Amino acid sequence: MGQDIKGKVAYITGAGSGIGRATALELARVGVHVGLIARTENKLKAVAEEAAAQGVKTSYAVCDIAKIDDVNLAVEHLKSNLGAADILLNNAGVGQRGDFLEVNPDEWKHILEVNVFGTYHVTRAVLPQMIEKNQGDIMNISSSNGLKGTAKSTSYSASKFAIQGMTEALMQEVRPYNIRVSTLNPSMVGTEMIFGDNPDKNDKEKFMQPEDLAEYMVSQLQLHPRIFIKQSLQWATNPF
Ligand SMILES: NC(=O)c1ccc[n+]([C@@H]2O[C@H](COP(=O)([O-])OP(=O)(O)OC[C@H]3O[C@@H](n4cnc5c(N)ncnc54)[C@H](OP(=O)(O)O)[C@@H]3O)[C@@H](O)[C@H]2O)c1
Repeated sequence: MGQDIKGKVAYITGAGSGIGRATALELARVGVHVGLIARTENKLKAVAEEAAAQGVKTSYAVCDIAKIDDVNLAVEHLKSNLGAADILLNNAGVGQRGDFLEVNPDEWKHILEVNVFGTYHVTRAVLPQMIEKNQGDIMNISSSNGLKGTAKSTSYSASKFAIQGMTEALMQEVRPYNIRVSTLNPSMVGTEMIFGDNPDKNDKEKFMQPEDLAEYMVSQLQLHPRIFIKQSLQWATNPF
């Protein structure tokens, strides 16, 4: 028998679209109060309204996770509206494709600032709440590119490999507080990150969809607190 997560509080980064949006809505569907973070207010507002229709509390904070002071303010805002987090989904991320020698060094660094430092900033702000509760779930979205590099994705792969290391080390550190820290490593998911310019190519019969990841994450969170999946890979059955 797993656990009922109804009534828990989740903070979700990158909640305005794609995987973050779908997971916020799925969590709301099972009765979890959701705190949403991203940079684009109108998208956050729309997700908050859709989630609230499920009868849960919602709050959102407009924030660039690469900026530590903004993250600290955003997390305080969510905490004052919803209470301390039981669940943190570090999902916000940016992608980049390009030849190693052609990507501008500032753009290369930006990917690490959002994907790695952003995840670090949010986790650093939220973790004390979980330590105080002596329980919690932190799920970090890495990528199949965080396990195996592919051509023309050096900054993205470097950032996602870094998330694996940070997650594994933090997991070992906070296990004594009953905090489960894990990575999810999806292969291609049909979101704006992949099909931004061409949504018609998002063939729903072929590619995993954000809703699939959302259902997966909720089922993982519903596992009995004595067990957790520290790393998982999500693949489409037959995308070719
Ligand atoms: N789609 C895939 O195939 C795939 C595969 C493996 C892993 N992933 C990972 O899954 C996660 C979600 O991606 P997705 O596919 O759902 O992409 P998406 O639809 O582009 O969503 C990305 C989200 O992150 C937010 N975000 C980006 N930069 C941010 C920043 N600096 N501060 C705060 N929020 C920021 C975006 O909102 P704003 O722009 O409004 O800030 C958006 O809500 C990413 O970490 C991605 O690397 C995706």
